[in-house]
Amino acid sequence: MSQAVDEIKIGGIGASRKRVEDNRFIRGKGNYTDDIVLPGMLHMEILRSPLAHARIKSIDASKAWDIPGVHLVLTGEMMATRNLAWMPTLSYDTQAVLATDKVRFQGQEVACVIADDPYIAKDACEAIVVDYEPLPVIVNPTQAVADDAPVIRDDKENQPDNVIYDWEVGDREGTDRAFAAADLVSKLELHYPRSHPSPIECCGSIADFNRATSKLTVYMTTQAPHIIRAAVAMVAELPEHMIRIISPDIGGGFGNKVPVYPGYVCSILASILLERPVKWIEDKSGNLISTGFARDIYLKGEVALRRDGKILAVRMHTDADHGAFFSDAQPSKFKIGLMHSAFAAYDIPVAHLTARGTYSNKAPGGVAYRCSFRVTEAMFFQERMIQAAADDLGIDQAAFRRMNFVAHDAFPHRTPFGFLTDSGQYAKCLDVGLAAIDYENFRREQAEAHSRGRLLGLGISTMTEPLGAGNSREYDILGIKMFDSAELKVHLTGKAIVRTGARTQGQGHETTWAQIVAHELGIPAEDVVVEEGDTDTAPFGMGTYASRSTPVAGAAVAMVSRKIRAKARKLAAHLLEVSEEDIEWELGRFYVRSAPDRGVTIQECAIAAYANMPDGMEPGLDATAYYDPPNLTWPFAVYIVTVEVDPETGVWDVLKMVAVDDCGVRINPMIVEGQIMGGLTEAYAMSNMQFITFDADGNCVGANYMDYLLPTAWETPGFELHSEVVTPCPHHPIGAKGIGECAAVGGPAAFVNAVMDALSGTGVRNIDMPLLPDRVWEAITYRRDVSGAPPVRSDD
Ligand code: CDP
Repeated sequence: MSQAVDEIKIGGIGASRKRVEDNRFIRGKGNYTDDIVLPGMLHMEILRSPLAHARIKSIDASKAWDIPGVHLVLTGEMMATRNLAWMPTLSYDTQAVLATDKVRFQGQEVACVIADDPYIAKDACEAIVVDYEPLPVIVNPTQAVADDAPVIRDDKENQPDNVIYDWEVGDREGTDRAFAAADLVSKLELHYPRSHPSPIECCGSIADFNRATSKLTVYMTTQAPHIIRAAVAMVAELPEHMIRIISPDIGGGFGNKVPVYPGYVCSILASILLERPVKWIEDKSGNLISTGFARDIYLKGEVALRRDGKILAVRMHTDADHGAFFSDAQPSKFKIGLMHSAFAAYDIPVAHLTARGTYSNKAPGGVAYRCSFRVTEAMFFQERMIQAAADDLGIDQAAFRRMNFVAHDAFPHRTPFGFLTDSGQYAKCLDVGLAAIDYENFRREQAEAHSRGRLLGLGISTMTEPLGAGNSREYDILGIKMFDSAELKVHLTGKAIVRTGARTQGQGHETTWAQIVAHELGIPAEDVVVEEGDTDTAPFGMGTYASRSTPVAGAAVAMVSRKIRAKARKLAAHLLEVSEEDIEWELGRFYVRSAPDRGVTIQECAIAAYANMPDGMEPGLDATAYYDPPNLTWPFAVYIVTVEVDPETGVWDVLKMVAVDDCGVRINPMIVEGQIMGGLTEAYAMSNMQFITFDADGNCVGANYMDYLLPTAWETPGFELHSEVVTPCPHHPIGAKGIGECAAVGGPAAFVNAVMDALSGTGVRNIDMPLLPDRVWEAITYRRDVSGAPPVRSDD
C-alpha cells in the first residue's frame, strides 16, 4: 500500500538540506569559466586607459603586431569598420567597446591583443603606443552640471550637457502642501559612496566561433545568459539561434555580472575573425577599476513632521553619478531604479522624489550591487532620515518607527510613490528585535555609560525590498518583459530534471529548486537535478539579480510542478480505474477518495506516462511554465546594532547585532540564514571599511584589495538571526518572498545609525560611509559632520 511521504524527510520546503552544489565546490571541482580549456584556444588581454578624460590623437600598434605569438590587435578604429566600436547598453545608452575619439574614464578599454598565451598578450598591450591629449576631468555630479563643465558624451547627438535624465515621481503639489502645514521639517544630506561588488571570480568569457557550423558558443560569467544572447545577436548581428551562451559555475555575481562588457564583445569578434576560441579573463585590478560599480549617489532629504510624531510627507532629491556610460540595467520605466520604494513600510500620505543622473569621468556605475535596483540606497536614505527625524522630534527611535509603520491589517497598501505592498508584520518584527537586543536595559546602560564618558550607541534599521521584478505590465529591460520560466522533465523511473531561466551564482538554486519540486510532487529532492545557465537547453528567462529568482523562477518551478501533477492525476485515474474526480492527492501519492488504501505513487504515475498511458494521451511527463508574477514580493526586516565608540581613536566595535527577517515561507532555512549572514557581512563592510574613490584627476583610488577591504571572519562581528515572524506572500504559489539581498540592503543604516546614536549630543548630524576611525574621530573632535568619500575629498 502506498503512503504519503514526509516532506522534511524527502528534502521539501522547510528542510535545511545541505547545498548539493557544495559537493563539487568544497572539493575544488567547480567548473568556472577560467577552468575551461578548448583546443586551439587563444588568450586576450585588454589595454586600458591611464587617463580619465583625454582625446586619442593616435594609436600605434605596430610593435604589438610584431611580437611573436600575437595573432590579432583590435583597436576602436578596426571595431568601427565592423560597426562594433560602440554597443547599446541595457539602459538605452551607448557604450564604447574600444575607444575611438576619446577615453572617458581611467581603465577604459582602448585596445585588445589576442595571442598564444596571456603573458604574450599582456606584453603586446604594453607595446601599443597611444598618444593622448588630456582633457578636464569631472568626478562628481556638482562638477558635471557646472556651467563650464566639458561635455563628456560629445559623441552623442542631442547631448548638450552631462545630464542623463531628470526624473520625478510622486505628488509635488501635495507634498508642498503637507510641508507647509508641518510643525517641523527634518533635513539630511547624505552620500552613499561608490562601492564595488568585487566577486571573488572576475568577469571573463571564452568565445568559440565554428565556421563549419556557423555556431557561436560563448562560455561566460553572466548572471543573465538569455539577455546576453539577445544582446550578442543585436550587437554582432548574428542569428540568435546560432548563438549559445553557457554560464558555467560563477564565483559570485552580486550585480557585477549583469552588464555587457567590452571584453565579451571583443573576444567574440576575435574568435569570429580568427576562427579559434578566444579566452578573456579579467584581472582583479581590471575588475575593480572598470566593471560594475554601484551606488555613488547623493541625497537631499526632508521629512515633514507633526509634533506628535506623525510623518506627513517626504521629499527627496537624488543626484546619481553614473560614470561615463549609463550602462547598468534597470526596468526601463524607472530611471533611478526602484529608489522610489523608499518609505514603503511607513504610512506616509504623500511624497515626491526628483532624481537626476549625470555622466562623469568614472567607470560606469549604478549596478544593482546585491539589491533590487537602487533599493539599498533607498533604504539607507530612508532609515538615516527616520533616525534624524525622530531625534529632531525628541521621540524614541523604536516608538517613532512603530507609530508610523503600515499596520499589519492595513494591506494592501499603496505607498506614497505608487507601489502596492501586500503583506507584512512590521511592528511584530520590531518587537522581536527589541526584545532580542534588550532595548530598555541597553538604553539604561547607555545613559549610565555616557555619564562616565563612554560612548554607547544603538542603531535600528528596517527595510522592505520590492523583490521579484516584475510583473510584465510594469517591468521590462529594453522592452523585454520581466517574467521567468521553468521546465520540468520527470523520467520514466520518477527521477527528474528541472531547468530555469535563472542562473545561480552561489545562492543554492541547485538545492532549493529541487525542494520546491519535492514539495509539489513528493519526488525526493535528491532525485531532482537542477540545471541553469545554458541557453540551448534552459527555457528563456531574465536571469538572476535583484533577488528575483525565488519570487519569479522559483514560482515557475512550483507552477510547472503543478502542471505535471495535473497530468499525473489523469494517469493515476487510469491506473486506479476510477474517474479523475474521484482522485485525491497527498504528498507523493494519489488515492481513491472512497478507498484511501487504494493509491499510486507519483513514481508509478511516471512509469505509466511512458509505459501504460490511457488511449489518446500524449506520452511523457514533462512541461514548461512561464511565470509572470502579479506583483513584487515585499520581504521585511529589522536590524538592530549596538556599538561602543572609542572617543580617543574613533574606532567603533559592534557589541551585538540582531536581525529579524520575514521573507515569507522559507524554502531552505539554512540557505536563508546563509544569505542573511553574507548580506550583513557586506553591510558591515560598506559601513565601516570599504571605499573606492577618485582624485580630482579621475584616478581611481582603492582599486586593489589592500585598499578596498573585503571583510573576513576576523573583522566581522557575530550576528543573531531571528526567524519567528513569517508572513507568507499572498500571491506567490508557495508563499515565499525573496531574501538574497535584504541584509545587504537594510544592514548599512543599522551600523551607521548606531555610531550616530553614540555621538548624539555632540552636534554631529552625519558621517558619510565608510565610518573609518579617522572620520569618526574627526567628527567627535571637531564636532562637525564628515561628508564625501575618503581619503581624497574630490567633493570639496
Ligand atoms: O535571486 P537570488 O537567488 O539571488 O535570491 P533569492 O530568490 O532571494 O534566493 C536566494 C536563495 O535563498 C535561493 O537558494 C532561494 O531558493 C533561497 N530562499 C529560500 O530558501 N526561501 C525564501 N523564502 C527565499 C529564498
